[in-house]
Amino acid sequence: MAQAVRTGYAQPHEKEYFRKDGSRLPVIVGLAMFEASSKEGVAFVLDLTERKQAEEKIRESERRYREVQTELAHANRVATMGQLVASIAHEVNQPIAAAILNANAALRWLNIQPPEIEEVRKVLGSLIMDANRAADVLGRIRRHIRKAPPQKGAVDISAAIREMIEFTRGQIMKSGALIRTQLKDGLPFIEGDRVELQQVLLNLIMNALEAMNGVSEGERQLHISALLNDAGCVLVSVSDSGPGFASENTEQIFASFYTTKPTGLGMGLSICRSIIEAHGGHLWASVNRPRGATVQFTLPVEHH
Ligand SMILES: Nc1ncnc2c1ncn2[C@@H]1O[C@H](COP(=O)(O)OP(=O)(O)O)[C@@H](O)[C@H]1O
Ligand SMILES: [Mg+2]
Repeated sequence: MAQAVRTGYAQPHEKEYFRKDGSRLPVIVGLAMFEASSKEGVAFVLDLTERKQAEEKIRESERRYREVQTELAHANRVATMGQLVASIAHEVNQPIAAAILNANAALRWLNIQPPEIEEVRKVLGSLIMDANRAADVLGRIRRHIRKAPPQKGAVDISAAIREMIEFTRGQIMKSGALIRTQLKDGLPFIEGDRVELQQVLLNLIMNALEAMNGVSEGERQLHISALLNDAGCVLVSVSDSGPGFASENTEQIFASFYTTKPTGLGMGLSICRSIIEAHGGHLWASVNRPRGATVQFTLPVEHH
C-alpha cells in the first residue's frame, strides 16, 4: 500500500496464506492506483494453487528423469567394469606380486650377518611404491563405479585419455589390437566431470574392441586422437578397423537399448551422448574408409 500510494503502483509479489484447515494458499498480489497519491485503484489477488501444482509436477518428473538417468549410467558402469574385471585383476596382481618379492628380499637382507640395513631400506621403499600402485588401481575402479552426482572441475583431456588407455591396456592386449594415439600437447582444459568423461572414453574403447572381434587379427587397429578443432573446441575421436555399423543410419546406435550384441545392454552410447551434451558438446558416429567406425565428440574449452 505504501509503495502504491507513493508511486501509483506496487510490484506484484507472491505470498502464501494459511487456510482455516491449515493448508497453504499461494497467491500473487498486485496493486495499482489510478493516479499517484490518488485514493482509488485496483488490486488483485490471484490463487496460484494450480500453477504451483503443475510446476511441482514438472519438477518431480524432471527429478525422476535425472534419477533414472543416474541409475542407468550406474548400471552401465558396473556392466562395463564387469567386462574389465579380468584385466584389472591382472593389473592389481602385478604390484602385489612385486610387493611380495620385495618383502622377501628385505627378509634376506635382514637375515645375513651383519644385516644390510641400506638394502633393506631400498627394497622397503620399492615395496611401498608397489602397494601404492595396487591401491591406485583400486581407487580408480571405485571412482568409476561410484554412484554420485557429477563433480565439475578443470579436466586435462589428454591425461584422462592416457589413464583410460592404461585402464583398458589388458583388454586391448587380449584383443590383439594395435593402439595408436595422437594427443596434442597443451590442449586447453575442459570444464566438466573427469570420471563421467572417462566413462565415455571407456565405452567408446570397449565398443571399438568388441567390434574388432569380428575381423582377423593383425588388422585390428584402434586409433585415439585429441585435438583442437576450427571452432576452438576439443575434438576427441576413437576409430577402429572393425566391420563398421550394422545399419546405414548411424544415428540408430545412439538410441537407448539398441544393441547388436547377444549380451549387450544398448545403453552405452545413449549415456555417452547425454554426458557429452550435458558438457555442452556433441557426440556422433561416422563410417571409416576403407572400413571401421569412428565415434567422436567435441567439448567446449574452459573459459576464465
Ligand atoms: N565401434 C563400433 N563399430 C561397430 N558398431 C558399433 C561400434 N560402437 C557401437 N556400435 C553399435 O552400436 C550398438 C550400441 O552400442 P552401445 O550403446 O555401446 O551398446 P552395447 O555395446 O551394449 O551394444 C552396438 O551394439 C553396435 O551395434
Ligand atoms: Mg557398448
